[in-house]
Amino acid sequence: MTATDYPLLESQYVAIAGDERDALANSSNFVALLFNALDDINWLGIYVLRGDELVLGPFQGKPACVRIPVGKGVCGAAAATLETQRVPDVHAFPGHIVCDADSRSEIVVPLAVNDKLIGVLDIDSPSLDRFSEADQEGLESLCRAFCRVQANSPEFI
Ligand code: SME
Repeated sequence: MTATDYPLLESQYVAIAGDERDALANSSNFVALLFNALDDINWLGIYVLRGDELVLGPFQGKPACVRIPVGKGVCGAAAATLETQRVPDVHAFPGHIVCDADSRSEIVVPLAVNDKLIGVLDIDSPSLDRFSEADQEGLESLCRAFCRVQANSPEFI
């Protein structure tokens, strides 16, 4: 597996977004860029905070569950704590929500604008322990860049 060049991805994302202010278009391109750049993953997408639920947003992979209450599953844990959840073995995570039976490990990064949660980025892999600390750092930095772009939109996703 090749290591992901996160700084390159970040500059690619900033270039793709340009001065576009449509939050949905920018989110869709963010997801597509990452899905095609990361090795060994089977699902990647954004769950958007709507009230006290996370609702399925732009994603790539198999159809997934639409609503996740904050506090439930890996996504809900990231939303409730505002901290990245890096799960080496999803079967060992209490309350993990199965969407794609192929998934073995998962990382969920909270997305926040001005310290306010707007959603989470969720990535699943068919391999155990796919996501390293370097992946976590790279993805957190990428998500900060994504949120800076979102902050320029009249409405978030
Ligand atoms: N596994 C996630 C649910 C979303 S899917 O993986 C796409 C969770 O436990 O929150």
